[in-house]
Amino acid sequence: MGRGGRKVALFLAGSFLAVWLLYGMLSSCSWDESRPLMMAKERYVLSNDRKVYSYDRYMPLIFIGGVPRSGTTLMRAMLDAHPDVRCGQETRVIPRILQMRSHWLKSQKESLRLEEAGLSKQVLDSAIAAFCLEIIARHGDPAPRLCNKDPLTLKSASYLGELFPQAKFIFMLRDGRATVHSIISRKVTITGFDLTNYRQCLMKWNSAIQVMYNQCREVGSSRCLMVHYEQLVLHPREWMNRILNFLDVPWNESVLHHEDLINKPGGVSLSKVERSSDQVIKPVNLEALTKWVGKIPEDVVRDMAEIAPMLSVLGYDPYANPPAYGSPDSAVADNTNRILANGQLWESKAKAFLEQREDLSASEAPAAA
Ligand code: A3P
Repeated sequence: MGRGGRKVALFLAGSFLAVWLLYGMLSSCSWDESRPLMMAKERYVLSNDRKVYSYDRYMPLIFIGGVPRSGTTLMRAMLDAHPDVRCGQETRVIPRILQMRSHWLKSQKESLRLEEAGLSKQVLDSAIAAFCLEIIARHGDPAPRLCNKDPLTLKSASYLGELFPQAKFIFMLRDGRATVHSIISRKVTITGFDLTNYRQCLMKWNSAIQVMYNQCREVGSSRCLMVHYEQLVLHPREWMNRILNFLDVPWNESVLHHEDLINKPGGVSLSKVERSSDQVIKPVNLEALTKWVGKIPEDVVRDMAEIAPMLSVLGYDPYANPPAYGSPDSAVADNTNRILANGQLWESKAKAFLEQREDLSASEAPAAA
């Protein structure tokens, strides 16, 4: 080949290389419409024993929710006791970002401005999913099954189900009279609830539970399981069996003994500031089942069916004070008797938690609704 021929061959080879490189760059930039934008497919965390756990938006996350004071902490503690599951403490920021997004959506003006600025649904969804996932995966120990318990996230179950297509939801239900009695007697601040007024709180409970109930139904029974607090505490073995089956998690006896794993490595990490920590340190028991009876003003008891129609929808007789919740398994009755027999011991354990909370209460912000 002459000098001219070599030049032509070099030119052709160079052009081929440039086209090939350009093609490679373009094909790696192009996106698959079914996948979200701006989202790495998988991320990784390392456990203390140097095991690598990957997490991504397509993993089977578990969301536990319900109206606060419905046994959501007990539920997550029982799941946290399972070696494959980690829920951890409330994140508080996940319900807030979901609430912020729903405010943006409700305002037509804001929606338009976001759309104009290029913040399409796809971009926002991808960013919110990445935020929630990062918080869930990295605020506690890694585990094969990650779980989140921020009670009010259940108001957004349908949207969360869209962001996380394999996620499942556990919706904790409790007799609204017991929930409201718990909120008022323990002075639990929840936006919109007037702690001096049973009637108003029951109406608020009714509207919150209605939203969650509709969301759970929208998501469907294959992805959202309704669990009655009363049934969980009366029959923990039967209900944990159902719950683990629903979540495709193998049975493990430790879920029935969460109290043995409190603040142990790989066990149940309890918060110093959450309002249920001093109750959840105890084994499953019946202390809280009927405490509300006799505490609700008479006129409110009389109008119960109109104030809180969701009671009947959920199967609670609004005229029975209390309704017949059922009789407990012997293991739960034994737990309750042991707690009553060792009242002082449990009181001092609970007091230790309460004191830690009081020390930190100055910096505690009210829960978002
Ligand atoms: P009371 O305030 O009526 O006692 P949440 O965690 O959703 O806020 O729910 C709190 C309720 O769960 C509390 O109700 C609490 O007693 C109950 N609970 C917590 N730990 C429990 C346990 N080990 N056994 C039975 N109920 C428990």
